[in-house]
Amino acid sequence: MRSFEKSRAALDRARGSLAGGVSSPFRAKAPVPLYFENGCGARLRDIDGNEYIDYCLAWGPCILGHRHPRLVEALRRQAELPIDYGAQHELEYTVAEQIQAAVPCAERLTLSSSGTEAVQLAMRLVRAASGRNLIVRFEGHYHGWVDSALISYRAAIEQLGPAEAPRAVLGSRGQSPNSAENVLVARWNDPSALESILRQRGGEIAAVMMEPVLCNSGCLLPRPGYLERVRELCDRHGCLLLFDEVITGFRMSLGGAQRHYGVKPDVATFGKAVAGGAAVSVVAGRADILDLLVDGGVAFGGSFNGNPMALACAHATLSELASDGGAALAHANRLGSALMDGIRDLARRHGIALDVRGFGAAFALHFTGRSELHDYRDTLADDTGQLRAFLTRAVEHGVYPVPDGRFYVSAAHTERDAEETLAALARVFATLR
Ligand SMILES: Cc1ncc(COP(=O)(O)O)c(C=O)c1O
Repeated sequence: MRSFEKSRAALDRARGSLAGGVSSPFRAKAPVPLYFENGCGARLRDIDGNEYIDYCLAWGPCILGHRHPRLVEALRRQAELPIDYGAQHELEYTVAEQIQAAVPCAERLTLSSSGTEAVQLAMRLVRAASGRNLIVRFEGHYHGWVDSALISYRAAIEQLGPAEAPRAVLGSRGQSPNSAENVLVARWNDPSALESILRQRGGEIAAVMMEPVLCNSGCLLPRPGYLERVRELCDRHGCLLLFDEVITGFRMSLGGAQRHYGVKPDVATFGKAVAGGAAVSVVAGRADILDLLVDGGVAFGGSFNGNPMALACAHATLSELASDGGAALAHANRLGSALMDGIRDLARRHGIALDVRGFGAAFALHFTGRSELHDYRDTLADDTGQLRAFLTRAVEHGVYPVPDGRFYVSAAHTERDAEETLAALARVFATLR
């Protein structure tokens, strides 16, 4: 049996200085608090000496796994140079050109550090570009933690209001009470819900914003034709379309969900996997919209924007992902799809009601007997007790998913990792009956 004694002691110590003992309170929700000391490829080792097959990947960014030689080499080279200039250097446009080559909507782009920042800027840009104020967003979608973004994400069932007129639900104490005044909330994956909002208020709506795959509420895919219909509706009502591709970007495909589904938004945000684990985010989109940063009075800044260390990682990551005809992401998605099938099969054999949703490189487990899972409300019947038991036991058996039931698969995961994972999860499922 694994011991987590050293991790537990470290957390106790950390609580005396760091709020909650963690750097991001989301992490405190993990069933077993782990302190890591090293990792390589798809494997991590904690300070008690336990090894894990890592499906958390730092909550998504480590698309090449840990210590990928190309990334290590780029960091080494960059470490001999100044850590930052706060001014221009060649990596900025080199990385911008790589993103432009991959992302259909990226006529122009700008760089920042976190996904939250990128979304904040994207919302400002679409309001400025359209001269309108309202943004339509969807229940269960996560766009960052700031006041303007944290709305109707993981709201409790009693807060949601009627399905045909969902309430905008604030996500935090201390959030400005008027944060929700500038948004309209709808159910996702339901074209008629959006149609009805646009019919009534289309002239006030700057943009429709969404995760094109609902990764933050169980990796739910858009229904066939949904994204195309949203695009059409936006065009009809003169609204912009904003895809938040912080997860799907450089995970679903090198050009994100927009390339995978062939639906081009006006503006898109990227983060997480762009730099393989370093802090880089991106707002990309139509040139006339992004150029508002130059001469359109839209303010934006950031001390760390475009810093060389992070961009060296972005350059190495994007080069690796683009090489060999995109083999790295194809592999991650193929292996992830095989894992999804394997996990479904295990659950069936153990008589556990389980659905697995997503695309290979990102998927999530739903402990539910429901077959219709299309939006956040559909996930509320998931058995959270069983999920929690699964997560605790998965970690005890050496499999480390995101602590909400998501699995991220990297280019570094191997067939052997997948086989070992399924063998470990078979033991986990045997304890869940
Ligand atoms: C879709 C989406 N948008 C925005 C964010 C915020 O990104 P960050 O945590 O880098 O601020 C996240 C983070 O999980 C995300 O999943």
